[in-house]
Amino acid sequence: MKILGISGSCRKDETSGTQKLVQTVLENTGMDYELVSLRGKKISGCIACLGCAADNVCKVKDDMEGLREKIVEADAYVIGAPNYYSMLNAVTHAFLERWYQFRHQEGDTLWGKLGVAVGVGGMNGMYPAANIETLLLYSFVETVATVTGQGAASCYTCGYGETCKVGVPIMMHGEGVTITPDMIPGVSKQADVIQAAVDAGKLLGKRLSEGHDRGEVTMRMQEKMMSALEESA
Ligand SMILES: Cc1cc2nc3c(=O)[nH]c(=O)nc-3n(C[C@H](O)[C@H](O)[C@H](O)COP(=O)(O)O)c2cc1C
Repeated sequence: MKILGISGSCRKDETSGTQKLVQTVLENTGMDYELVSLRGKKISGCIACLGCAADNVCKVKDDMEGLREKIVEADAYVIGAPNYYSMLNAVTHAFLERWYQFRHQEGDTLWGKLGVAVGVGGMNGMYPAANIETLLLYSFVETVATVTGQGAASCYTCGYGETCKVGVPIMMHGEGVTITPDMIPGVSKQADVIQAAVDAGKLLGKRLSEGHDRGEVTMRMQEKMMSALEESA
């Protein structure tokens, strides 16, 4: 069993809360895994050219090409994204949008696989985690757990945090704030969030080692998808 981890953070690995949580989930699965950062990768959104309609292979030439085989080979996914404007950030969205290439003809390559959705925000990560779950559902991938945490908003380190009227430090601590290291949030400081990542990894590992039935998962995800579509109609 192999798990593909994706960190959609644009920030350096050591400053990224998303990367930290995705890594923590992966480490606790007890399975082989590969963690890929989308940082610096050039991945466009789907351009609806339908070049993939005949053979389920995207024809857009960018960094998604090198990721396709990893997606196909993985038994499960741990996908994390930062919260940008109360939704998942663009590169993670583009990455998941391009999974459209698997959806044609007998396009069941991803059906019934398992996933964990991770979201990190300056305030909270629930929006990107929910977005990831929705996008995975379109491939009938079951999200077995979501993990969300509060990361370090760049406003604490941009150099203007103590005076910027629209920055997080003044929003959180008021005018006249002096930024100190202890007030900068980070997922590693949130024991409950790290525990949630550990638990999510263990659950994913357990589900995989129990030899989950992809057909059964697919049916449940198809039903869930139909209910969601009916509700929104
Ligand atoms: C363009 C941009 C928009 C953002 N919008 C939000 C937002 O709407 N809500 C929020 O909670 N955090 C927002 N943030 C803060 C990030 O989610 C936060 O810094 C988070 O820690 C990033 O994840 P990372 O540490 O893995 O890079 C935004 C950051 C950027 C760069």
